[in-house]
Amino acid sequence: MAPESVHAACGRVQRNFDTIEQMPEPFDSTTDLPTRPRRLRLQPQLREMLQRVHVRKSDLVLPLFVREGAGVKIEVPSMPGVYQMSVDVAAGRLAELASMGLKAFIVFGVIDRAKKDDVGSAALDPDNVVCQLLRRVRDQKLPLAAVTDLCLCEYTSHGHCGALTADQSTVDNDPTLNLLAQQAIHHARAGADVIAPSGMMDGAVRAIRRALDHAQFTNTAILSYAVKYASGFYGPFRDAADSAPAFGDRHSYQMDPARGVEEAILETRLDIEQGADMVMVKPAMPYLDVLAAVRKSVDVPVAAYQVSGEYAMLEAAIGNGWLDRERVVMESLQAIKRAGADLILTYYADRFLKVI
Ligand code: PBG
Repeated sequence: MAPESVHAACGRVQRNFDTIEQMPEPFDSTTDLPTRPRRLRLQPQLREMLQRVHVRKSDLVLPLFVREGAGVKIEVPSMPGVYQMSVDVAAGRLAELASMGLKAFIVFGVIDRAKKDDVGSAALDPDNVVCQLLRRVRDQKLPLAAVTDLCLCEYTSHGHCGALTADQSTVDNDPTLNLLAQQAIHHARAGADVIAPSGMMDGAVRAIRRALDHAQFTNTAILSYAVKYASGFYGPFRDAADSAPAFGDRHSYQMDPARGVEEAILETRLDIEQGADMVMVKPAMPYLDVLAAVRKSVDVPVAAYQVSGEYAMLEAAIGNGWLDRERVVMESLQAIKRAGADLILTYYADRFLKVI
């Protein structure tokens, strides 16, 4: 197509000019551009005044991995800056972070392989590392909300999130509910303020709410991992929690990333009907559309989990000098808040306390 006919087709430029000097003024600035968004960007004071998204220390929940032993602090290879800690070390660290303004943590247990079995019995041991840490935090009267991840995958020898069916093809939903209900009571007894079931079992919230209420823990809240995708971004978590590599995958209970947001809305509705006080979307950054849709459709607080793979991805680039940590961490948390999260579970929660 000749240049003339392209312009004619666009209907904008009537004729070609032989030289740049012959071009008319692009527009009359007094009439053609009444709105210039850049006006509000020129001055730092105005820029700051117009911010609507504020990430506060109190928005963040720090995930914590506790293991057996004393004086133990081991860095997670795929998550530089994140450590497995024995109960004593973790309790000391939490005291320090509480004094810096941390408000909440979520605890995961790292269990000796020898203690794992096919139904995750160690999850029901009132003396396991999770319960020990909860008691320590309570005894030390730390001003922190204690959240527990409620799942069997850290305790099962096969690494799946519950007891398996007879043919071992998937997790057996209803028998697993009974185990989760018992585990919840152990956590509440040890001092958990919030129980966060993460195994994507149907009816888990109902089972846990009933068990807690029967045991007089009516004030223990439930934060349901209602919308949890079968995500490759959990990869480094296996290192962190030393969970056995679940054979096959978790697609038979976690959500398919290729489904639409309607399924996320269904999951949150069901969990709220069953008694969830808060719901979570996980992972965070690759699922901001889901987070925004969930935020619109529910009237309970919504949390988002910036998961291990999101952290590892940022840290790898930061470690190579390709990204600036302070900027990208803040930007990622702002994006998650802007999409609608009331709370953010993030491995950066501890370092954020120093930045702000
Ligand atoms: C299950 C659980 C997982 C994570 C949190 N809770 C692992 C999984 O579902 O596969 C992942 C968190 C992360 O990747 O940071 N107990």
